[in-house]
Amino acid sequence: MARVNETTVAVDPQILAGLDNYRNLPAAQQPTWYSEEALALSQETLSKLPPLVFAGEVDTLRDRIAQAAAGKAFLLQGGDCAETFADATADRIRNRVKTLLQMAVVLMYGSSLPVIKMGRMAGQFAKPRSSDTETREGVTLPAYRGDAVNGYDFTAESRLNDPKRLVQAYHTSASTLNLIRAFTTGGFADLRSVHEWNKGFTDNPANARYESLAKEIDRAIQFMAAAGADFEGLRSTEFYTSHEGLLFDYDRPLTRIDSRTGTPYVVSGHFIWIGERTRQLDGAHVDFLSRVRNPIGVKLGPTTSTDDLKRLVDKLDPNREAGRLTFITRMGAGKIREEMPKLVEAMKSMESTPLWITDPMHGNGITTKNGYKSRRFDDVMDEVRGFFEVHEAAGTFPGGIHIELTGDDVAECLGGSEQIDEAALEARYESLCDPRLNHMQSLELSFLVAELLASRK
Ligand code: PEP
Ligand code: CO
Repeated sequence: MARVNETTVAVDPQILAGLDNYRNLPAAQQPTWYSEEALALSQETLSKLPPLVFAGEVDTLRDRIAQAAAGKAFLLQGGDCAETFADATADRIRNRVKTLLQMAVVLMYGSSLPVIKMGRMAGQFAKPRSSDTETREGVTLPAYRGDAVNGYDFTAESRLNDPKRLVQAYHTSASTLNLIRAFTTGGFADLRSVHEWNKGFTDNPANARYESLAKEIDRAIQFMAAAGADFEGLRSTEFYTSHEGLLFDYDRPLTRIDSRTGTPYVVSGHFIWIGERTRQLDGAHVDFLSRVRNPIGVKLGPTTSTDDLKRLVDKLDPNREAGRLTFITRMGAGKIREEMPKLVEAMKSMESTPLWITDPMHGNGITTKNGYKSRRFDDVMDEVRGFFEVHEAAGTFPGGIHIELTGDDVAECLGGSEQIDEAALEARYESLCDPRLNHMQSLELSFLVAELLASRK
């Protein structure tokens, strides 16, 4: 089967063979497809479709991440836990992009640092699950693994693991990314439209605070205009996509050899991360992603040992390349202050300079009395504070945040200044997977992080 594009440079056959070495290794969290034939067809299709992102963009992102790792930029990564095909609409995508742009402005204004904007978008269609199956009232079906694998409805038809969905995931990612590119380069993301991004969101305290910040930015821009500044640089913004590198049957056919350099890139997204459940040192995911040029993230939960950490660095960043590796800690608010210092200290002897970012979502899950998967906004904030404290004590840089959020007015996480309570979840809970911060909670969080960044200086 054709797996790579034709290239103009000679490709080292060992590089090509290496890309398939994962097939010899244990691969956690892979679906069992209903048909091998259908799978082969989807892979053939994917292997011929154009790349979603370009190697040159990926290289620029690696440089940006290197800047953040050196304390000269901050990474904002956010989006759905699981994107769905149904929610890839213009309104929903726009609300997510607007929310990320607003958060970035708050962070940038508070910290005076460039903010790297990255969506968990245009590819986040596959989920790891704690069990292969789900049983309801005596009926057992395959667990929902994300829209790239099967449907959420609890029927045999919908839960069928259907490889055709891999191709639909590609096309949905392509149209999502097309709109993102239009919004972020077509004038919508112009900093002079900073008020526009707030339109359409309901009135609330976080928005009011944002509006007053937007006024200050206007004043600064008017001042600069009077001084004769050139605003071409404000017209557009870089925006990167990311997803968990989970499904080999999606990311492998979308791995291509860069014609400039003869090296492999995953072209389904700029930044790929390895999840907490698939970061086994001798497993397929670490092996595969060690062989591609994209910047790679690794989730680190509270059981991560310093030995694991060192071995991950040796495998994923053998050349100690700035911008290559990002550690995404997700310890839980109650654990971060105890579990993280040893990891940060251990890195000091490794000559690797990873970017450290906090995911204050995945270590703080709870189930409410009325049966919803939720998170308390206060716990999320507390983990972020703990992350900053640990880095302050170690003299290292707290370089970013990784958030599950939506631009819509949902009620999935408890608390925030709107004081979302358990009853509210019954009316406005939409996530098919983990609970997300809504628009207002996302803005509130960015104000807190901006304050923490400002007070570092
Ligand atoms: C996620 O980011 O949605 C996720 C599953 O995270 P983790 O691997 O940290 O549990
Ligand atoms: Co999640």
